[in-house]
Amino acid sequence: MQAPKKKVLLKIIILGDTGVGKTSLMNRFVNQKFTATYKATIGADFLTKEVTVNGQRVTMQIWDTAGQERFQSLGVAFYRGADACVLVYDVNQPKSFDDLESWSQELIVQACPQSHETFPFVCLGNKVDKAGPNRAVPKKKAKTWCDSKSMPHFETSAKEATNVDEAFRKVAEIALLQE
Ligand code: GTP
Ligand code: MG
Repeated sequence: MQAPKKKVLLKIIILGDTGVGKTSLMNRFVNQKFTATYKATIGADFLTKEVTVNGQRVTMQIWDTAGQERFQSLGVAFYRGADACVLVYDVNQPKSFDDLESWSQELIVQACPQSHETFPFVCLGNKVDKAGPNRAVPKKKAKTWCDSKSMPHFETSAKEATNVDEAFRKVAEIALLQE
């Protein structure tokens, strides 16, 4: 008889500029809900969701953080033990894409993972529902940056539930590979 598989808890941290849709993506994934009213996240808070990845039950503990600087007071202890990080930008806001480099550095510096090179990041370009074919951050540009860092890239909409499940499943998958 096969021994029951060990239950796994994954600590996932979502980072990105204010207003890009971090809270909305988490809410869409965990609660299948979306609200159009903006309410700034203060500090950090988590929701959990159980998923099955390759026959393995996994609990994702998803930490949503504040993009607004005045609400950021998370120390090293918060980041410690992170299993993966979701970087979010808004496809209509080039600055939010340019800032991903420093958000990823923040994670690396604070979480101090054993290997900087292989720490699992997934990159989400959100609010595609608002973007025309000539989006401010072209998909190709984002893809090139992500490829150079071996990061999976998704274009998402928390509003229309586009690619949200797919993206978070990928997060769980690549986090598990590190276990
Ligand atoms: P902070 O908590 O300040 O860091 O912001 P955040 O990244 O959590 O952004 P939030 O999820 O609060 O979303 C900001 C605004 O964008 C809200 O009004 C959302 O309704 C809206 N929004 C989020 N995702 C989408 C999306 O995919 N499409 C559209 N059209 N609007 C979105
Ligand atoms: Mg928020």
